[in-house]
Amino acid sequence: MKKIIIAIDGHSSCGKSTMAKALAKKTGYTYIDTGAMYRAVTLFALRHGLIADGEIKADELERFLPQVSIGFMYDSEGMQHTLLDGEDVEREIRGMEVSQNVSPVSALPFVREAMVAQQRIMGQSGAIVMDGRDIGTTVFPNAELKIFVTARDDVRAQRRYDEMVQKGEDPVFEDVLENVRQRDWIDSHREVSPLRQADDAIVLDNSDMTIPQQDEWLMNHFIMATAE
Ligand code: DC
Repeated sequence: MKKIIIAIDGHSSCGKSTMAKALAKKTGYTYIDTGAMYRAVTLFALRHGLIADGEIKADELERFLPQVSIGFMYDSEGMQHTLLDGEDVEREIRGMEVSQNVSPVSALPFVREAMVAQQRIMGQSGAIVMDGRDIGTTVFPNAELKIFVTARDDVRAQRRYDEMVQKGEDPVFEDVLENVRQRDWIDSHREVSPLRQADDAIVLDNSDMTIPQQDEWLMNHFIMATAE
């Protein structure tokens, strides 16, 4: 069976990573969460005082970026952990502070250039499932299988809200909805690699689907793409 590149793009909080991880597990492919890389850069900037009151010190970040190392490691259960300069930051990059600052950081052209270069190296030998916003359009425009995932914004906000409650946080639904909408807007209006559906991507609106249903849907597309 040929080893392909699977690009899963789409809006935030629509279950891209859940379906990408499940497919990688079933197929033995490597899963790469590109959003985690932008989150790690954001955490770096926050820790070094390069974001103050929402204002990014872009010149300084650009100077530091070549020295920042971002990587992944996999624990005994196969779960991916993001490493920032060797430190496991998986938990911290999912917090509200990083979430609130990641969209403007990921809109900086020099940040995108550096991350895309790393992503291309990670995926060069195939057999990968990569999720993000610009995988099918910019990182791997020749990916054999491209999926564009979306869901209604209230459904996505509810999923994010439930996740936060499960983690013991006490979110306000309206704030979560506002964050989802804001990120959609920034992600799809930035100048470099805005979020958009690749012309040859297959669209999945999973607003009314269960996780097993979406996994089955994706597996069927994987089987078709690898059989060709
Ligand atoms: O998928 P996520 O929510 O973890 O992504 C975090 C942010 O990173 C999101 O605001 C969009 C941005 N991102 C991006 O610009 N390009 C990617 N390939 C992946 C994520």
